[in-house]
Amino acid sequence: MSRSRSELTTFVMPHMQNVRGDLFGGDLLALVDQAAAVAAIRHAGGIAVTASIERMDFREPIHLGELVTCTAAVDFVGNSSMDITVEVHAEQVSTGTRRHTHTAHVVFVALDDKGKPRRVPRLVAETDEERERYRRAEEQRKLRRPK
Ligand SMILES: CC(C)(COP(=O)(O)OP(=O)(O)OC[C@H]1O[C@@H](n2cnc3c(N)ncnc32)[C@H](O)[C@@H]1OP(=O)(O)O)[C@@H](O)C(=O)NCCC(=O)NCCS
Repeated sequence: MSRSRSELTTFVMPHMQNVRGDLFGGDLLALVDQAAAVAAIRHAGGIAVTASIERMDFREPIHLGELVTCTAAVDFVGNSSMDITVEVHAEQVSTGTRRHTHTAHVVFVALDDKGKPRRVPRLVAETDEERERYRRAEEQRKLRRPK
């Protein structure tokens, strides 16, 4: 699980503001999608596309001038699909204060060179924390798509 982990950091610039002067949700979603794409492509070893943004919790705003970091990890895989959690942190550089502001759950699907879903490698959880994430993601998947 740790091999596919990705981290993307950027600076909140003026063109990314909403009407309140904070980071616009659409821009944040793009960053979340990019971080998740890197984790998915690393795990799949090839092209993968967003199939679904299952959930995005906006806990706190991120302000202009702060650093925003999206950390993505593959938590569970099916045949061609990958369940990915993205944790978002904001950092005020002048004080070093770091806040956990958002959590997103997204699903990516690996594609072959004809654009058809392609089987991905199985996921190996090596630590207790990874095993717990895997267990929770498996439960979530059962709730989401009951067979
Ligand atoms: C995602 C996509 C590849 C699925 O193709 P499909 O032919 O419907 O695939 P299938 O029904 O055979 O399902 C393939 C896998 O995707 C999963 N899947 C399909 N739609 C899904 C959805 N909306 N949410 C979660 N998982 C989904 C299936 O559960 C299946 O998982 P598994 O292989 O692990 O069992 C296809 O819908 C697509 O290309 N969508 C556009 C994606 C895109 O352009 N994203 C870029 C951002 S706009």
